Amino acid sequence: MTSHNKPDDPIAGRLLESALRGAYGRTPENVALAQLLMAASCAEEANRALNAAINHVRFDPHERDKAVKRLQRMRTLWDQTPEAFASIKAVMHSLDHPSARDLHPSPEAWARIFDDAVGVSREASVALYCLGRADLLRAATDEIVERIRAWNLLRDDVCVLDVGCGSGRVVEALARHVRTAIGIDVSMHMLQAARECCAACPNAVFVRTSGQDLSVFRDTSVDLICAVDVFPYFVMSDLAQRHIGEMARVLRRNGHLLILNYAYSNDPTASENELRRFAQEAGLYVRHSAMGKFSLWDGTCFLLQKTTQQERST
Ligand SMILES: C[S@@+](CC[C@H](N)C(=O)[O-])C[C@H]1O[C@@H](n2cnc3c(N)ncnc32)[C@H](O)[C@@H]1O
Repeated sequence: MTSHNKPDDPIAGRLLESALRGAYGRTPENVALAQLLMAASCAEEANRALNAAINHVRFDPHERDKAVKRLQRMRTLWDQTPEAFASIKAVMHSLDHPSARDLHPSPEAWARIFDDAVGVSREASVALYCLGRADLLRAATDEIVERIRAWNLLRDDVCVLDVGCGSGRVVEALARHVRTAIGIDVSMHMLQAARECCAACPNAVFVRTSGQDLSVFRDTSVDLICAVDVFPYFVMSDLAQRHIGEMARVLRRNGHLLILNYAYSNDPTASENELRRFAQEAGLYVRHSAMGKFSLWDGTCFLLQKTTQQERST
């Protein structure tokens, strides 16, 4: 091994991989920076890892210039967001509650955890990769809504349901394009933040639910369901299969379900296979699946439709 791929500093070496994911464009720069800050035990350690990454890529004959530029942009982003390390660590501390380590944490446990997290940072509690910044969160949300719009799923006669709506950013961004936007969540404090976020949206409605199912909704009453970064919690609570079944029940014929991030897993293929199996059992067809296609987020994207094989082939 040459000196450039084996950094002398063992601490920086541990974190180097996070920085290099950003350097080589494998994850967006803000995501790589958030992952680096999440993994570092102090800001100085993250700083050393960034320096080690710059040193490392200098020896790459093919990608050097682009990689150095990306690392410099990560550093600039951090300079512009000096509170990022503290915000990320504070939210991680709330999420690291002992009940989150149960084999299958209950929805009530997640409610308490997210009640605390949103009190720490409205932005970072729903998306650590936004580094606690409202402007980055807004840009990431706009990108999601633009994707939904490009699929032609937004019309003024549409009823959309955002499951696990958190502090309401997606409901707020969707409400102006649809007839009704309903947000549900288990966390009372998240819902309080969501109501404030949507104070100027007369067609936005929020409901606190048990998190076990969608029993407050009638069959075939919704055109579009969005589930942004909530399925990983269903998976951890062992409620993913039940929720996919419930979503299929609540969707109108030909309605769509958008799942952004299905699981926080080291085996994305196994997770996708599980999602496909549950979807098939529920009568949902996977129209689209993609990884890493957002410019500010590395989330996976699945668009499902309630349609029969016969309808698809005619
Ligand atoms: C990472 S946040 C994402 C929030 C929002 N979708 C967003 O992207 O801004 C996850 C949210 O899921 C909610 N949640 C967790 N388990 C839930 C359940 N079983 N039913 C409904 N919401 C749940 C949490 O309270 C939290 O608001």
